[in-house]
Amino acid sequence: MSDVASPDSPAATEPAKPPHHRPVRSFVLREGRLTAGQQRAFETLWPRFGVDWQPGTALDPAALFDTPQPLVLEIGFGNGESLAAQAAAAPERNFLGLEVHRPGVGHLLLAIERLGLGNLRVMRADARALLRPPPEGGLPAASLAAVQLFFPDPWPKKRHHKRRIVQPDFMQDVSRVLAPGGIFHAATDWAPHAEHMLTVLEAMPALFENTAGPGHFAKRPASRPPTKFERRGERLGHQVFDLVYRRR
Ligand SMILES: C[S@@+](CC[C@H](N)C(=O)[O-])C[C@H]1O[C@@H](n2cnc3c(N)ncnc32)[C@H](O)[C@@H]1O
Repeated sequence: MSDVASPDSPAATEPAKPPHHRPVRSFVLREGRLTAGQQRAFETLWPRFGVDWQPGTALDPAALFDTPQPLVLEIGFGNGESLAAQAAAAPERNFLGLEVHRPGVGHLLLAIERLGLGNLRVMRADARALLRPPPEGGLPAASLAAVQLFFPDPWPKKRHHKRRIVQPDFMQDVSRVLAPGGIFHAATDWAPHAEHMLTVLEAMPALFENTAGPGHFAKRPASRPPTKFERRGERLGHQVFDLVYRRR
């Protein structure tokens, strides 16, 4: 059972299992305090814009929106400012944001209200669980036009590399939920992490075609607004890498 499926669940409650049976997570659940505004957002905006999902149950993404339109899933939206900007700029698409960090979810709910966004919904869930095939996961096959992963946790230490979210089994799950021709778009400011993602994806040519040509990073698409972590990386002098792959 996931500890992040509900907006109100307490801090990470690991099931009582020996350490070697603990799931390898791509995140550390830092609770952080909610601001008064974020607290209000959970009370008044979650019922309208939040999506409750429990692992092991099916989710019909089309039923979440008033207008049937191509659906973009963003994994790990952070404070959600970039995702809100994208949804405002592309009213012809629907967006579903996934994040495990409660204050970030509250922050995005407030942005949805401020910008009056009807095409954006928010989930507090582990992307790896949501994308699993049934009966574990929730999303139907070929239900998404795009999957976005901007500045995923880089896990720079070697012993943590297994926590990087882009792994062959995860990308297999991403390929399942993407419609043929759908786009997987990742970005990072950590060069070794960029190389890691490139290596994983280049080894899956039957599922993903690199839109920039084999082995190449992509030019930053104009549709990607800057994110909080990107700005931080730029302040540190980091180069930013985009990877854009098409589902075959
Ligand atoms: C480095 S931050 C980047 C946030 C944002 N995209 C940005 O660029 O500012 C990575 C985010 O991914 C979230 N995350 C990591 N693994 C996740 C998972 N399996 N499912 C959902 N969110 C995840 C973390 O909670 C964190 O907020």
